[in-house]
Amino acid sequence: MRNDVTVIVLAAGGGTRMKSKTMKVLHPIAGRSMIGHVLSAVASLEPTRVVAVVGNQREQVGPHIQALVPDVVLAVQESQDGTGHAVRMAWEALPAEQRTGTVVVAAGDTPLLEGESLRALIEAHTGSGDAVSILTGIVADPFGYGRIIRDDAGGVAAIVEEKDATSEQAEVNEISSGILAFDADFLDAALPQIGNDNSKGEYYLTDTVHLARQAGRTVGAFTIEDVNQTEGANDRAQLARLARQLNDRILERWMKHGVTIIDPLTTWIDVDVKLASDVTILPGVQLLGATVIAEDAVIGPDSTLKDVEVGVGARVVRTHGELAVIGAGANVGPFSYLRPGTELGARGKIGAFVETKNAQIGEEAKVPHLSYVGDAEIGEGANIGAGTIFANYDGIRKHKTIIGKHAKTSSNNTFVAPVHVGDGATTGAGSVIRRDVPAGALAVTSGPQRHYEEWAQRKRPGTKQAEAAVSASEQTENDEDTSQDGPPGVGD
Ligand code: UD1
Ligand code: MG
Repeated sequence: MRNDVTVIVLAAGGGTRMKSKTMKVLHPIAGRSMIGHVLSAVASLEPTRVVAVVGNQREQVGPHIQALVPDVVLAVQESQDGTGHAVRMAWEALPAEQRTGTVVVAAGDTPLLEGESLRALIEAHTGSGDAVSILTGIVADPFGYGRIIRDDAGGVAAIVEEKDATSEQAEVNEISSGILAFDADFLDAALPQIGNDNSKGEYYLTDTVHLARQAGRTVGAFTIEDVNQTEGANDRAQLARLARQLNDRILERWMKHGVTIIDPLTTWIDVDVKLASDVTILPGVQLLGATVIAEDAVIGPDSTLKDVEVGVGARVVRTHGELAVIGAGANVGPFSYLRPGTELGARGKIGAFVETKNAQIGEEAKVPHLSYVGDAEIGEGANIGAGTIFANYDGIRKHKTIIGKHAKTSSNNTFVAPVHVGDGATTGAGSVIRRDVPAGALAVTSGPQRHYEEWAQRKRPGTKQAEAAVSASEQTENDEDTSQDGPPGVGD
């Protein structure tokens, strides 16, 4: 935006109705804090400057805002004496030569707000010559909002707050969204004139409307179609409703981009997730953080992926994954747990009941069943047998296991790290591999099978185990007796 625009974001209020040790505007929805959503809408305007008013828990809120908007001006409001007071604190935080142009005031707890709506308000305001322009909404239940009071000519005469409204004023269903655009010179003159002679004893920013009319200036009202955009979340129930609405909006956007979402009711996608066209999402999927899914991949059902990159045409079924990379055409799940640092190569497989962590698994390598793979490097085309444990932890430190290309390790192996199995090597079932295996070798660690005859009869006499053993050996003796009579069925 080329005009001189200052945006003031109010975030000093306590948010006591959240009943939370986390400050209201820091509560996350769709992968961002509430104020993060507001600041992102504000950033899309490319305003000249952003001022944020902080108060309650400012030691958390301030740095959070600074991380998102590094050149923000932070203004401190020590006690929350009202929105008019908060804006005065913001105004005083700016040097006099920056108190110019158009000033937009928004609240930090309206996560559905979109940049386009702010832009439309600013455009309506800039051309109008009005001292103040209000973003208004028409709502079925105006309870709690400031009502827009119009004069006989239809001009905006005042905003009257819930507690100060007469019963007639309370009927009005045109409300102030709390988002206002000001002419800087007017705001500068009006702020010191706002009083606190009202039922809350607060300095109301909305009093500027009345002050503008007194000064012979006009006030504009710009009605927003989608009034949800300006709804604030005051408690957890409202937060959940807004989260659902925001999610619906995100899903609509992806479906328009060619993503198939089978069940929007059980699909949750964070705002920063990126999906290619022809991705299919089955029911019960959460795609979180900076997850990126490439074309033709099929995710779900019942999977949660956070900061996971999924390659073209990969298949992910009933999986929980974090900070992992799944290669093109790879197969994951069902019931797989991919922990940070998992990298599965193209056409590789991580199968049922497999947990992986910090594991680079090469192209076409497979870990199909019931295994823990931690701190590992598995070469391309290798196959890990069912029930394998990569014993990476000696109780003090973590160590790495390397399995070479095209190695075949058998079922129920333990790799005691650090250990290296060479390219093309094989291990026997039940092996505990403690020493490096040369390339191409077969490593076997379990001893030859030995039988201690009639052990059960001798060591477990009188038990069902011993009885079963006795009757089995009697059966064998009988079978041997009859077999001496010649083949069954012959001569009988
Ligand atoms: C405000 C408006 C009301 C509007 C409604 C829309 C006023 C007087 N009323 O009412 O017309 O319909 O928003 O949601 O402006 N804040 C501070 N410091 C303070 C007080 C508030 O930073 O001293 C911040 C809050 O954290 C919040 C925002 O300002 O982000 C709005 O304050 P809130 O108390 O929610 O005002 P409402 O009573 O909802
Ligand atoms: Mg409010």
